[in-house]
Amino acid sequence: MLKILFVASECAPYAKAGGLGDVVSGLAKQLTVSGHDARVVLPLYRSIDRQRFGLRYRQNVCVHGAGGRERWAGVWESRLGDALPVWFLDYDEYFGRAGIYDENNREYIDNAYRFDFLSKAALQIGKDLGFIPDVIHVHDWQTSPAAALLKTWDRKFSPLSASASVLTIHNIGYQGVYHKLGFDYLGIGGDWFNANVCEDHGRFNMLKMGIFFADAITTVSPTHAEEILSADGGRGLAPYLNWKRDDVFGIINGADYSQWSPENDRLIPANYDWQRFAGKQDCQRALKERFGLVGNSEPVIGIVSRFAGQKGLYLVRDIIEQALRELPFQWVVIGSGDPALERFFGELPARYPGKAGSYIGYHNELSHWAQAGSDFFLVPSIYEPCGLTQIYAMKYGTLPIVRATGGLRDTVTNYRNTADTDGTGFVFWDATPSALLGTLWWVADTWWNRHDHLARLRQNAMAQNFSWAKPAAEYLNVYAHAIRNRRALLAREG
Ligand code: ADP
Ligand code: GLC
Repeated sequence: MLKILFVASECAPYAKAGGLGDVVSGLAKQLTVSGHDARVVLPLYRSIDRQRFGLRYRQNVCVHGAGGRERWAGVWESRLGDALPVWFLDYDEYFGRAGIYDENNREYIDNAYRFDFLSKAALQIGKDLGFIPDVIHVHDWQTSPAAALLKTWDRKFSPLSASASVLTIHNIGYQGVYHKLGFDYLGIGGDWFNANVCEDHGRFNMLKMGIFFADAITTVSPTHAEEILSADGGRGLAPYLNWKRDDVFGIINGADYSQWSPENDRLIPANYDWQRFAGKQDCQRALKERFGLVGNSEPVIGIVSRFAGQKGLYLVRDIIEQALRELPFQWVVIGSGDPALERFFGELPARYPGKAGSYIGYHNELSHWAQAGSDFFLVPSIYEPCGLTQIYAMKYGTLPIVRATGGLRDTVTNYRNTADTDGTGFVFWDATPSALLGTLWWVADTWWNRHDHLARLRQNAMAQNFSWAKPAAEYLNVYAHAIRNRRALLAREG
């Protein structure tokens, strides 16, 4: 049995901005199911409802900063799925705000301090609450400093000096690059501020720091692991990742089917499965009504996405009007981010009434409705480390249409034009509007002319099993690898 401390900036259902939140809770829960002792440290954001989640106050911890500064923070506890303890870090100055990372599309200017502090406090919580983990699992730039602290402040003569660290890179497009003051705040000594460790053209690169210090590094699909080791895909970090090539692994994300399956989902209008498929029509009817879409027979394409550059939504913007005019599909688009895309998709329903619906913002329930009520789910990403919405969509019998990149490529099998196709969706290769439009024509052609093939695709998709059991077992191998690395270093240092 291993003791594993997750340190993360998101964990569903308490706090979630994207897939990170789903992955942290899904993996940590599965590890407890597999008999391990996992815990999560998460900031107590203002949006987290203490009453609803039954948070109980535990104690205060003293977090030591640079120059001997002490900050006292509270620790609250709740349990996820009864078995997984989650510790909430209560520090109003940093986390008592409306957003997780930003507000009104403006990033908080003190994010380096906020997440340095989370990383520091998490180690202190482990020590003060007597949870000395075999592995500290950190996620993205936000909690990368915890891997650095383990090998600096806590390197020797600390209860944590034998704890190994694993860094999961969910998104290399966000590296947490800030003013050097964000580095100074950690108080680990100026020598580490160099280009091999965390300096990035005079600034502090938090993810780079995690890569340097972590005992093992994972990303969220095998294809993306190859991508980040290549010059283009590494976004400046490929050389540093290649130094540690033997410690880099790609593990596909799992899905938490207790939340994301048509038979268990408590948020959708009707439950269904392959045998009792009629519920899906109820879900579609409700979705169409909610978004003002007219007619029962037109197929629906759903999109639920952050409006970020990586997601390829400009490709959609460029072709959707032609698609609305020429193809049978109706559209439901849910998301927020890029103001130009918010405006475009926000105005679309007024311009194509009865055919296009949109919700600009974050809406968990609607995201489930879109999964269940759509026929197709479009994920046209420019790059995608793993992607979860296409994985969820398959379970709902909603066929994904994806671009062949990263985890999208690893999770969706392209339709072959045969009745016994092993396909689970539609895949296109070029990140161009014409490739996307051409694929939509192909989907429409299949819809018009090969209903039996679509039924087969749907059956294949719903039979896919992306539950957390397999990825969790792969993470356990990575934890063992990290522990070996940590022990070898300890032995070398004597
Ligand atoms: P990423 O983490 O890059 O955003 P993923 O596909 O891994 O991409 O995960 C996205 C998660 O966030 C999914 O659970 C998706 O349903 C959810 N999501 C994205 N945008 C919204 C939104 N506007 N409202 C509700 N849920 C959203
Ligand atoms: C990231 C990636 C996404 C991945 C998610 C969870 O935000 O963009 O592809 O599925 O993290 O790992």
